[in-house]
Amino acid sequence: MDQQSPAPESSHSTAQQKYDQALKKRGPTARWNLWRNSFLLSAAAYSGVIIYQLGRGVDYSINHANAALADTAIILIGLSFALSGICYFWDFFDTKIIYRKYLGITGFAYALAHGLIAYFLYFVIPNDQSRYDALYVWEVFGFQVNNAYAFLFGATALLILLFMASISNTAGMKRYGQRWRPLLRLGYLAYFLALLHYGIKRYEVWEIWLTERPSVLPPFSLLLTAFVLLVFILRLALLIKLRLVKQRGPDKQSL
Ligand code: HEM
Repeated sequence: MDQQSPAPESSHSTAQQKYDQALKKRGPTARWNLWRNSFLLSAAAYSGVIIYQLGRGVDYSINHANAALADTAIILIGLSFALSGICYFWDFFDTKIIYRKYLGITGFAYALAHGLIAYFLYFVIPNDQSRYDALYVWEVFGFQVNNAYAFLFGATALLILLFMASISNTAGMKRYGQRWRPLLRLGYLAYFLALLHYGIKRYEVWEIWLTERPSVLPPFSLLLTAFVLLVFILRLALLIKLRLVKQRGPDKQSL
C-alpha cells in the first residue's frame, strides 16, 4: 500500500511534492513495521490513559477501560488527521505522513471495540447507569439533551469510520476515483460527531470539575477536547495556507 498511499492534498502540487519526498526519504519500509509501530503507539496511549484514570483515583470498572478505548481512538484518529498539517508546516516530520492510514485504522479498531462494548452495556448486559440508559436526559449548557442523541452521534461516527476504513485501500481508490479523497474527508465529520457524542455525556462532569475542583487532575475527556480542537484548528490553518498559496500562484510563493 505504501507506494499507493494517499497524498495529504492531492489537489495541491506542493503538498503532493512533500508527500513524494516523504516516501523517498522513508525508503521501502515494510507494511508490517507501520502496523506494528501504530499498534505500539496505541498501546502506549491506552496505558497512558489508564494510568491517568488511576491517578485521578477513580473506582476502576469496565466503564473506565471502555472509556480509555474511546480516548485512544480519538487520539489516534486525531493524530492521523493532524499529520497532514504537521508534515506540511514542519518538514522534520515529512516521513511520518505514511502513518496516516495506519494510525487511522488502528484508531478505528479502538473505536469499534469501544462501540461494541458500549452497545452490550446499553442493550445486553443489564445495568442501572445513566450513561447506558438511552432515555436519560443530560444537562448540557443549560439544555436538556436526551442520551439517545449521544448514542446516535456515536453510532453515526462509527459507521462513517467503518466506511472510511473499508475504502482506504487500492480497491477503494480505484473504485471512487476523483471522489475518493473527498470521501475520506468525511472523517472530519465523524470526528465532530464523536465530539458531540462524548461532549453530551461528559459535560456535567466537566462542569463539576471546572466549578468545584473535586480532584486535582481534570477528567481525561476534558483534556481530550482540547486536543480535538487543536486538530480542527490545524486543519483550518492548512486549508487557509493552501488557499493563500493557490491565490498567490506558484511564482509568488517564495515571497
Ligand atoms: C455505537 C457507537 C457508540 C456507543 C454506543 C458509545 C457509547 C459510549 C458511552 C456509553 C460512553 C460513556 C462511557 C463512560 O462515561 O464511562 C462513551 C464515551 C465516549 N465515547 Fe463513545 N460510543 C460509541 C461510539 C464512539 C465513537 C465512534 C467514538 C470516537 C471515535 C467514541 C468516543 C467516545 C469518547 C471519547 C468518550 C468519552 C470517554 C471518557 O470519558 O474519557 N464513541 N461512549
